[in-house]
Amino acid sequence: MNAPESLPDAATLRAMKAQGRKLVMLTSYDASLTVHCENAGVDVLLVGDSLGMVIQGHDTTLPVTIEHMIYHCACVARARRRALLAVDMPYRSYETPEQAVANARRLLEEGGADMVKLEGGSAILPRLEALRDAGIRVCGHLGLLPQSVEELGGYKVQGRSSEDAERILADARALEAAGVEMIVLECIPAALGRRISESLAIPTIGIGAGPDCDGQVLVSYDLLGLTPGRRPRFSHDFLSEQPPGRGIADAIHAYVLAVREGRFPGPEHSFE
Ligand code: KIV
Repeated sequence: MNAPESLPDAATLRAMKAQGRKLVMLTSYDASLTVHCENAGVDVLLVGDSLGMVIQGHDTTLPVTIEHMIYHCACVARARRRALLAVDMPYRSYETPEQAVANARRLLEEGGADMVKLEGGSAILPRLEALRDAGIRVCGHLGLLPQSVEELGGYKVQGRSSEDAERILADARALEAAGVEMIVLECIPAALGRRISESLAIPTIGIGAGPDCDGQVLVSYDLLGLTPGRRPRFSHDFLSEQPPGRGIADAIHAYVLAVREGRFPGPEHSFE
């Protein structure tokens, strides 16, 4: 694996936020796309369990296994040069603190990841604390939790009632206190995305969480217009906007610039 000599640590991530430097995250599942992400200056590569939908053709992320994640993470790790490499812990791979630590170690050692991402709030705190105590870097994920899509009754905007908004904010604070280094906020009203981002010292990474998060993430297959059927409101096909003769590398570069310059997401990608 190509482990870079210096990676942003937790203090650097917080300093980037304090300086107003937007973090750019993008999903990657293979070596070739990773090279384009690296060339375009993506800060964080995410091997998302969205691969269950965009690569494997499932309706949800639930059938994805730890073996699948290790395989794709290792593909990405072979091509990464300087970006931080985060990987999703798949459904039911972190049911207990012990299982979370054992599977996270596999993702780091066999997959070559730097950081694991887990979905959930206060309910998973003992697992997050076990990971922190084991020295494993963690990214949180709040708002719409695709691994809980059945309990949530579908892919719906979360945090619209004041009770839900307060719960998500309290979860974000609890995750930060448990040592989580950044938090993905998925599909929540833009005002809540701003409130959470202003309440934390660690960066928030939005996807359908408005323009005021400290960074943004997209599913690369959405960015490249590869995802069949109706795409979520928060996604954007950057490839279709490229002038003739331009391609995938230019589309990823356009995404990186649009996030850094605060031009993406716009109001049309956000929720009230
Ligand atoms: O699995 C994934 O790609 C994700 C992003 C949508 C944040 O979790």
